[in-house]
Amino acid sequence: VQPKNVIRGNHDMTTTALPELRTARLALRPRTVADLDLIAALNADPEVMRYIAPVGDPAMGRDGIAARSFSHVARGLSYWSVFPLTAARDLLGQDLLGYVGLIPDGDAHEQVQISYRFAARHWGKGHAFEAVTRLLRHGFETLALPEIAIVTHPENAASLRLATKLGFEPVPARLETLIGAPPVVATRMVLRRASFAAASRQGAR
Ligand SMILES: CC(C)(COP(=O)(O)OP(=O)(O)OC[C@H]1O[C@@H](n2cnc3c(N)ncnc32)[C@H](O)[C@@H]1OP(=O)(O)O)[C@@H](O)C(=O)NCCC(=O)NCCS
Repeated sequence: VQPKNVIRGNHDMTTTALPELRTARLALRPRTVADLDLIAALNADPEVMRYIAPVGDPAMGRDGIAARSFSHVARGLSYWSVFPLTAARDLLGQDLLGYVGLIPDGDAHEQVQISYRFAARHWGKGHAFEAVTRLLRHGFETLALPEIAIVTHPENAASLRLATKLGFEPVPARLETLIGAPPVVATRMVLRRASFAAASRQGAR
């Protein structure tokens, strides 16, 4: 979910300063310009976009994606493309599973929100949980974020289940936070660094 105001910035800024992150099965590679067409294709699937935005919304096309992909790299915030790893732990760069992101949250961009979107053919295999858990660890442990939010459509059962499984807890939505078409008041959930650390210590993830 993007903040209401479109983020504009330096489209040429690369994400090479950001780390590649890995899990048992997945590589999270910082988004590059070469990924934009793959992301635009993901955004063109009505099933994927059901609770996010109408297909054809210019903000979801290549230029819209480019405009918000690289503006906050200096803060360590951007998107990571998720690819499968082979048994030899090579990254299969042509088989995009989806993406995860840490992006500014709120009109003043003062907080951070997590974003996740996977291709429908890859749903239900635990990829999102695995990739988002890794990015949360990066956000809390490396970027030292105190809190990360998720903003989702109240009927997006998959997203709500994923967020709950990750330990996010509902908080009152800001009234201005609308999502979907027709727009509805979004469900806002947050996860604090201490809760994430406690769950990690208990082996919950
Ligand atoms: C939300 C999304 C990323 C989940 O991806 P995924 O890889 O299928 O998720 P996982 O396999 O890691 O599953 C995580 C949990 O969600 C549950 N889940 C997945 N799809 C579900 C659905 N349609 N309804 C209810 N629960 C669902 C899983 O069963 C699992 O919970 P469990 O372990 O208790 O069974 C994926 O559905 C998606 O990309 N949706 C479209 C984009 C979107 O809506 N993004 C969120 C915008 S805020």
